[in-house]
Amino acid sequence: MANPAYSTPEWYLQAKDRDVSSDIGRLTIYHFGFKQAAHGTLLFVPLDFSSAPRAALDVGTADGLWMREVQSSVSAPPAGEHSFIGTDINTSFFPNTVTKGITYVKQDVKDPPPEAWRNSFDLINLRMILIAAGSGAAQRAAVNEHIKLVKPGGWVQIGDCDRICPTPESENPRYHEMFACIRAVCEASGLDPLEASKMKSWLIEAGLEEVEERTAMRAVGKRNEDVELGRLGVEADLLIAQGFATGAKGLNASSKPLPDERLDSLVQDLKTELNEVGAYFPMRFIWGRKPF
Ligand SMILES: C[S@@+](CC[C@H](N)C(=O)[O-])C[C@H]1O[C@@H](n2cnc3c(N)ncnc32)[C@H](O)[C@@H]1O
Repeated sequence: MANPAYSTPEWYLQAKDRDVSSDIGRLTIYHFGFKQAAHGTLLFVPLDFSSAPRAALDVGTADGLWMREVQSSVSAPPAGEHSFIGTDINTSFFPNTVTKGITYVKQDVKDPPPEAWRNSFDLINLRMILIAAGSGAAQRAAVNEHIKLVKPGGWVQIGDCDRICPTPESENPRYHEMFACIRAVCEASGLDPLEASKMKSWLIEAGLEEVEERTAMRAVGKRNEDVELGRLGVEADLLIAQGFATGAKGLNASSKPLPDERLDSLVQDLKTELNEVGAYFPMRFIWGRKPF
């Protein structure tokens, strides 16, 4: 594909250090949607921040919103301070303002992390980043590489989405089509979009303990009791739908998920569906502890 679809890992790769600030608004809306869907939880792991300084790594951090929110929600340690490192391939996401205790590092999730990071983190957060590693095998390898960075007794936390509409097609025909476009475009680029349901077993098979999974449905449009967050969620999803519908239109005929005329009308029809019916964007949060 000459022009990768907006917000796909290929798009982020090509965006590199170009200005990606247009994406921050969408990611912020998703962040608050995920948080609402998980009843305010950003930290699923029972890591005690009050007893000692903790080191956390947020992979594919974008503008570090998850880190900044977690930092301001946890207790301060008795001495010293918690440290957060956020990595991303696109440094133009990184905030210009300095926040004490937070640093940003350019790092591709597919590359081996710095040797000095081995066994050094109490927590690693991988939210909506693993697909950027590529195939299912590559995503699993990335998880295993990041487990090496966790201290014995430390935690890995993954957040990823199913990329399948969770409600019946009769209820959300256009949301089904949006996910069909997402899957088709990802698959055409060698990315496996349906790995989230396997991630719990990846952690178990990697030897992690206390592995748990929780699903959280981000409510969009009419489904959201918070009318403003629902409205913003529609805008964010329409950006995704537009990007992936355009990407799907550029696929070979055999890989196209829908006829061109349906791809052309997807965004408008989806807008109506989300405003009149609403939809759920399905997330999974999975976490586990590295044995002592
Ligand atoms: C969907 S956003 C998720 C951002 C954040 N983790 C969150 O949950 O809100 C994906 C992020 O991963 C970054 N990214 C994409 N490909 C990457 C890669 N190969 N290595 C590291 N970061 C990458 C993008 O720049 C973007 O900030």
